[in-house]
Amino acid sequence: MRTVLVTGANRGIGLEFAKQYASDEDQVIAICRNDDYTDELKIISKKNNIRIKLADMSDFKSIDILQNELSGIPIDIIINNAGVFGPKAQADGDLRQSFGHMNYDVWRKLMDINTLAPYKIVESLIENIRLGKDKKVITISSSIASIEDVSPGVNAYRASKCAVNMVMASLAMELKDQGIKFALLCPGWVNTRMGGGKAPITPEVSVSGLRNVIDNLSIEQSGKFYRYNGESIPW
Ligand SMILES: NC(=O)c1ccc[n+]([C@@H]2O[C@H](COP(=O)([O-])OP(=O)(O)OC[C@H]3O[C@@H](n4cnc5c(N)ncnc54)[C@H](OP(=O)(O)O)[C@@H]3O)[C@@H](O)[C@H]2O)c1
Repeated sequence: MRTVLVTGANRGIGLEFAKQYASDEDQVIAICRNDDYTDELKIISKKNNIRIKLADMSDFKSIDILQNELSGIPIDIIINNAGVFGPKAQADGDLRQSFGHMNYDVWRKLMDINTLAPYKIVESLIENIRLGKDKKVITISSSIASIEDVSPGVNAYRASKCAVNMVMASLAMELKDQGIKFALLCPGWVNTRMGGGKAPITPEVSVSGLRNVIDNLSIEQSGKFYRYNGESIPW
């Protein structure tokens, strides 16, 4: 039995992580930004191996409070999953992250939630990871952050995920001798509120694949960028 902490566990991919780990009898610490969580999380949290904790990834004081609340508790796996895509030009005609129309407040917000918050989570909960057995820190990134495979648009989102890739790869080097393993994982194009109804991959399939990659993650692979099916993604 492991203890797995998942941010953004309210819905989408994060909720699916909580469901799958809990049904394997692992202990899940499900982080939500407020207590207005979905009915599905309410139902599954009745199982006594899911504990809901509140923290807003854009409010670092709430992450400090979380750190205090979890003090001394071993955590085997942290999954930095909470994320925001920002304005969608294609789906909604919202150009606020398109060239010529960039809204810099939007960009800063994406950096806060997608880049700074995962780093802050690691800084705040590193003692818990040191106490855990698995010692794994997973960050859900996106293949659209790959510079070698770049295409136009959504520059703020891409930049925020590219930056989180860099800082987690850097921490992987810094903490390798402590046995702490990091991975940047792309879930694929998944049918969630972010991915939209046309996305071909279900959260169930994506998260089963991601869990397999997480289970097999070795210290030699630490800091690398993988797709949910285990393929390597170029930076
Ligand atoms: N879906 C895809 O196709 C796809 C592809 C590549 C990468 N990803 C990545 O996968 C991760 C999960 O995405 P998803 O598809 O499950 O998205 P989603 O359905 O939009 O869910 C996002 C989750 O993040 C939480 N969140 C957002 N802002 C937060 C904040 N300030 N504090 C705490 N929680 C916050 C949301 O909570 P609320 O319910 O409170 O808003 C929700 O639980 C993200 O990092 C995303 O970038 C997704």
